[in-house]
Amino acid sequence: MSTYDLVVIGTGPGGYVCAIRAAQLGLKTAVVEKRATHGGTCLNVGCIPSKALLHASEAFEEASKHFGDMGVIVSAPELDLKKMMSFKQDGVDGNTKGVEFLLKKNGIDAYHGLGRVAGAGRVEVLSEDGGNQMLETKNIVIATGSDVTKLPGVTIDETIVVSSTGALELQAVPKKLLIIGAGVIGLELGSVWRRLGSEVTVVEYLDRVLPGMDGEVGKQFQRILGKQGIVFKLSSKVTGVEVKDGAATVSIEPAAGGDAEKLEADVVLVAIGRVPYTEKLGLETVGVQLDNKGRIQTDSHYATNVTGIYAIGDVIAGPMLAHKAEDEGVAVAELLAGQSGHVNYGVIPNVVYTYPEVASVGKTEEELKKDGIAYNAGKFPFTANGRAKVNHTTDGFVKILADAKTDRVLGVHIVGADAGNLIAELAVAMEFGASAEDVARTCHAHPTLTEAVKEAALAVGKRAIHI
Ligand code: FAD
Ligand code: NAI
Repeated sequence: MSTYDLVVIGTGPGGYVCAIRAAQLGLKTAVVEKRATHGGTCLNVGCIPSKALLHASEAFEEASKHFGDMGVIVSAPELDLKKMMSFKQDGVDGNTKGVEFLLKKNGIDAYHGLGRVAGAGRVEVLSEDGGNQMLETKNIVIATGSDVTKLPGVTIDETIVVSSTGALELQAVPKKLLIIGAGVIGLELGSVWRRLGSEVTVVEYLDRVLPGMDGEVGKQFQRILGKQGIVFKLSSKVTGVEVKDGAATVSIEPAAGGDAEKLEADVVLVAIGRVPYTEKLGLETVGVQLDNKGRIQTDSHYATNVTGIYAIGDVIAGPMLAHKAEDEGVAVAELLAGQSGHVNYGVIPNVVYTYPEVASVGKTEEELKKDGIAYNAGKFPFTANGRAKVNHTTDGFVKILADAKTDRVLGVHIVGADAGNLIAELAVAMEFGASAEDVARTCHAHPTLTEAVKEAALAVGKRAIHI
């Protein structure tokens, strides 16, 4: 029997990063992964393939609609979807192989098979060929991630009714794509297929898109996506999907009740959230407690109620984001090595990789109002930013929310080109407890989109220059 200091179950961004940090700190570490490749949801069927298709489809749309405006005259581009899918797969393979290399480089033993907690200090690995191995370990970190939330009564066949996984693998561009859920998956993958030629309708239960994000951001973003051609049916619920002769009929009702209508679609994407994944882990045999949403319950040190068993990433509470899982992986490894690992949940950026991008960090206006915190808001539109003007990417704005008394930055919300990169400076600023004045007095290079950040910070003190 092999003996370890740490066995990590699952090699998504949480698990593989945890294993690497533990090995760096001298812990004898193994990982167990049931997929053939490492990297979890994120690298195999999540962040990475979706961003490859977002990048490629944006290039297609640029060439179709915008090259001419810049005097770049090309004939109308043709779509080779098979080639686009192989471009995506190349990126996925490069990333998953990269993780395999990093695990080896750090001396981590990788076991392929289903990991099951056989008792405190014991992990059983069941391989596909039916063989099994027992690993003995001082500590176990569960990083088994999440799975698609199913819609009751709707069967996902991954061909006509698809989850995000099927939507990343479509063999042809659907003429009509109906998406259930105006969250981040619905809007990212809806953007991909709209750019490639689908008529996209998004049905959302609530009266807004991207719930949880700042309300003003949601409104403006929906308007922009609407102009791009995505049709929204808000405050509506899907009551059934019938598949017949290779197409779907979707029944929709107003959320508050009322007359039903039926919409035809070639493909239906179910994107109504994700649920923690703990199937076949054997948690009940050791008595690891779950909360009322099926997430593994942990304390602030990622410890479960069973000594020596820890959990991180999508399988525990908090935003289901790769960088949150990674940071928890580092923190728990450091705690196990006797250091003081820690994650600041107040400063986790959240990015939607559409065009324009949406990025946020910290509190929304709605949260500040609910908590009774007085704040000043500084807002700057990209229409007034020189670089955005010259690039013709003027959609959106930067909004900085700062404490009314101390001027400390409490939240930042951006809609705009490259918002995902722009948000990073504000995350650093918030970690350092910066005031809006600190950001405003920092010299930002000209001409860059980052000047809109500086101007929004100046606008908190009502002294923006360019508006
Ligand atoms: P996962 O990545 O889900 O990894 C868990 C791993 O555990 C899997 O490989 C699974 O096979 C393995 N496993 C499960 N059970 C067992 C077992 N019993 N034995 C062995 N192995 C097991 N987040 C972002 O931050 N940015 C993005 O752009 C982004 N895009 C996304 C796009 C899509 C379409 C989706 C679906 C998600 C996206 N996410 C994104 C979310 C991100 O993928 C997750 O937050 C992240 O993968 C969570 O990491 P994790 O390590 O907790 O779990
Ligand atoms: P989500 O939680 O972002 O959005 C789900 C949407 O579906 C919500 O707007 C919700 O109100 C709506 N909804 C729920 N039930 C419904 C119903 N019955 N009918 C109509 N609408 C309904 O979940 P999503 O988009 O599935 O993504 C899952 C997770 O993956 C997210 O929590 C996110 O953290 C992660 N992710 C992150 C990305 C990023 O960081 N760029 C990209 C993709 C996914």
